[in-house]
Amino acid sequence: MNARIVLLPGDGIGPEVTAQGRKVLEKVAKTFGHTFEFSTHAIGGNAIDDFGDPLPEATLTACRNSDAILLGAVGGPKWDDPNAKTRPEAGLLRIRKELGLFANLRPITAQECLIDASPLKREIVQGTDILFVRELTGGIYFGESGLTKNADGSETAFSTATYSTHEIERVVRIAAIAARQRSGHLTMVDKANVLEVSRLWRRVTERLIRAEFPDLKYDVVLVDAMAMHLISRPSTFDVVVTSNLFGDILTDEGSMLPGSMGLLPSASIGSSGPGLYEPIHGSAPDIAGKGVANPLATILAAAMLLRHSLKLESEAKAVETAVDQVLAQGFRTRDIAPKGHPSIGTEEMGQQVLDALKS
Ligand code: NAD
Ligand code: IPM
Ligand code: MN
Repeated sequence: MNARIVLLPGDGIGPEVTAQGRKVLEKVAKTFGHTFEFSTHAIGGNAIDDFGDPLPEATLTACRNSDAILLGAVGGPKWDDPNAKTRPEAGLLRIRKELGLFANLRPITAQECLIDASPLKREIVQGTDILFVRELTGGIYFGESGLTKNADGSETAFSTATYSTHEIERVVRIAAIAARQRSGHLTMVDKANVLEVSRLWRRVTERLIRAEFPDLKYDVVLVDAMAMHLISRPSTFDVVVTSNLFGDILTDEGSMLPGSMGLLPSASIGSSGPGLYEPIHGSAPDIAGKGVANPLATILAAAMLLRHSLKLESEAKAVETAVDQVLAQGFRTRDIAPKGHPSIGTEEMGQQVLDALKS
């Protein structure tokens, strides 16, 4: 097949890890007889520096005209001034909103050969295989917000969490369909004991599941308790659906189950148009430019791109199998290497995956 893929390397380790993702996609194209046309565009802090905008028009247009997008990460201390007019992160939020990417799929799997990289005990982590479905274009990230000056010179700020029935239904439906294809268990996480917006999530979700997915095992967990259950009994969850902010926080926590942020990919999808694929981690300023970042999250995001946007399931599987094999052979970047175990760099890890990739 022919596909146009936009690369948005971004900031910090973004360019280092997307370079490995691109190499893997190029090898897939060559091995399986596809033509992938790549174009690279600016987003985030570097786009603010070069164009005065974290999401320049040319980037958005290229994304709209593409079949899929692979993004590294945005942000960093250089653009952290709380008084700045705009931030790198605004570019990422805008592209998600503009492309209607309301569902963010974040799989968290604890592979047997990596269990010792987890800070948690083996018997707790073993068997973990969760798909988080995070709502991505609503909630407190996009609600009304503002800042007012008080009479005494102090300030008051507000950020509002807003969700409509429609926004809840469409993301829950994606989660429920995924649960049906997996082990049939769906958990919804909210804070319905306190928040009105969560009570709407609960009513809408229960009604939808009863009407359209009565075959699923369905339960609800409050987000504070979920933060605990996620590290005390992670293997009891299958698909977990939740709002934008809760999903952001819980999946960073969840990254410690397999052992590193550098392992977790994500797919952001809407009802039509290109999907956006990215690692869940950020620009990792502490290790940027050192060639030590783990590229596997981005490589696995490329596998999700092949699966969800290009419908190339065998190719996606081939990439995932190659990653499994490299890990099983004992290759480790620094973030997942046990004490005393030799580690390899970003490029070498990418190369190992290329070598392991078979048709
Ligand atoms: P981070 O995810 O960048 O880093 C957290 C920790 O995980 C760091 O110690 C880092 O070294 C480590 N880490 C992350 N990715 C790694 C990888 N591939 N290999 C090895 N170690 C890895 O989070 P942060 O430090 O809180 O944020 C830094 C910047 O990134 C901020 O500006 C933030 O807004 C931004 N951010 C962007 C995205 C995105 O672009 N999608 C996501 C999260 C954070
Ligand atoms: C993520 C990030 C982003 C988010 C930031 C950088 C806007 O943390 O992709 O998880 O909060 O969604
Ligand atoms: Mn996050």
